[in-house]
Amino acid sequence: MELSYWKARWQKNKTGWHMNDVYPHLPAYWPNLQLEKGSAVLVPLCGKSLDLLWLKNHGYRVIGVDISPKAAENFFRDNRLDFKTYTKSSFTVYKGDNLSIWCGDFFKLDAGFLPEISAIYDKAALIALPEGQRKRYAQKVLTICNQSTQMLMNTFEYEQDEMNGPPFSVFADELVELYGEHFTIELLHEESIMENLVKFQHRGLSSYLIEKVYHLRPGS
Ligand SMILES: C[S@@+](CC[C@H](N)C(=O)[O-])C[C@H]1O[C@@H](n2cnc3c(N)ncnc32)[C@H](O)[C@@H]1O
Repeated sequence: MELSYWKARWQKNKTGWHMNDVYPHLPAYWPNLQLEKGSAVLVPLCGKSLDLLWLKNHGYRVIGVDISPKAAENFFRDNRLDFKTYTKSSFTVYKGDNLSIWCGDFFKLDAGFLPEISAIYDKAALIALPEGQRKRYAQKVLTICNQSTQMLMNTFEYEQDEMNGPPFSVFADELVELYGEHFTIELLHEESIMENLVKFQHRGLSSYLIEKVYHLRPGS
């Protein structure tokens, strides 16, 4: 997807992916990571997700990245959190207490800008990207990981021929291709989500839609 596509979605308030609650699989499965409080968590393509707040409220230092200034501003204002802004390279950083959103192109994020990242929370980030961008995305993610970085992520699986993304369909074998060399990939949750199937029916989806949640631990 072009960045202009996402900016336009935000401008027109067409943010159907946004959830008004915390993603239920975050509190359910985050404990699997056994991450020390105070650790830094990166949330690529974060939007204005309430998951950022959940992570902060559970004691982590949270760094989100999104291309949309509207997403960043709305996040802080909706949640009545103070923030300052500053510029770092091509990013505008919205900085609050233990939570910042780096507004800019994730592909331009330099690991040197960031603290040691203990975990990456990929909620609807990899699956926001078409196949042609996913390898590049995963390679960028890998530049940010150190020996102990873990990931919690979700995917959707459906027949890609039935519907255009986003969200795109990402099967487990692709995850192995992208990350299998560096991580042990554990499936934590698998669910057929009928309500989303109905939501996407007008776009052509008809057969099935499965959501999966994975824990990626360093080492293969
Ligand atoms: C499907 S939404 C998911 C948002 C969030 N993770 C959530 O679950 O609510 C994808 C987000 O990625 C952002 N995005 C897409 N491409 C990006 C890029 N190259 N750099 C930074 N943000 C990007 C969009 O602005 C959008 O907010």
